[in-house]
Amino acid sequence: MDSIRFGCWVFLFCLLLSTTGYSRNLTSRPAVVNIGALFTFESSIGRVAKIAIQEAVKDVNANSSILRGTKLNVDMRNSNCSGFIGMVEAMRFMETDVVAIIGPQSSVVAHIISHVANQLQVPLLSFAATDPSLNSLQFPFFVQTTPSDLHQMAAVSDVVDYYGWKQRDVVEFLTRWGFPRILELTGPTS
Ligand SMILES: *[C@@H]1O[C@H](CO)[C@@H](O)[C@H](O)[C@H]1NC(C)=O
Ligand SMILES: *[C@@H]1O[C@H](CO)[C@@H](O)[C@H](O)[C@H]1NC(C)=O
Ligand SMILES: *[C@@H]1O[C@H](CO)[C@@H](O)[C@H](O)[C@H]1NC(C)=O
Repeated sequence: MDSIRFGCWVFLFCLLLSTTGYSRNLTSRPAVVNIGALFTFESSIGRVAKIAIQEAVKDVNANSSILRGTKLNVDMRNSNCSGFIGMVEAMRFMETDVVAIIGPQSSVVAHIISHVANQLQVPLLSFAATDPSLNSLQFPFFVQTTPSDLHQMAAVSDVVDYYGWKQRDVVEFLTRWGFPRILELTGPTS
C-alpha cells in the first residue's frame, strides 16, 4: 500500500514538473489535468491501488501550492486482467485528453497496450507489471516503477546454485514465467 502510494506520488511529482515546464505563463495553466488509471478492480492489488490512487489525488488537490489552481482528475477503468479489454480501454483513453495513464497491472496487458502508448505518445506508468522484457528501449513510453522480475530470478538462481538442485526441477517450478525466463534461470546452474 505504502509503496504504491509512494509510486503515485513520484508519478504526480513528475507530472507536476512537466506541467510547470510547459506552462511557465501561469495564465495559460489548465483548470483540470486528466490522467487515466487502468487496472483490475477485483484483484487484491487492484483494490489497494484504487484506494492509494484516490488518496494520492486527494492529497495533491487538497494542497493548492502543488498544482497551483489546477485540479487533478483521475479516470479509472477496469482492464479485468484481459489484454483485449485493456487495449479497448486504452484506446478509449486516447480519445480523451488524458496526459498519462497509470497502469496496467499485468505484464501481459502492458505488452499489448505499450504499442498503443508508443504510437500515441502517452506515458504509461505501471506499478505492478514486472516483466523484464518491458524495457524502455523498445517501449520509451512505458515506465516500470516496480523492480523487474530479474531481481527475483537472480535470487532464485542463487538458491538453486547453492543447493545444487537439478535443472529439471527448476524448469518445472518456473514455467509460469515463460520460456526466456527459464533459460536465464537455468543458465548459471549448467
Ligand atoms: C500569458 O498568456 C496570455 C494568453 O495566452 C498572454 O495574453 C500573456 O501576455 C502571456 N504572458 C506572458 C508573461 O507571457
Ligand atoms: C503543500 O505542499 C508544499 C509543497 O510541496 C509543502 O511544502 C507543504 O508542506 C504542503 N502543505 C501541506 C498542508 O501539506
Ligand atoms: C472479468 O473476467 C471474469 C473472468 O474472465 C468474468 O467472469 C467477469 O464477468 C469479467 N468482469 C467484467 C466486469 O468484465
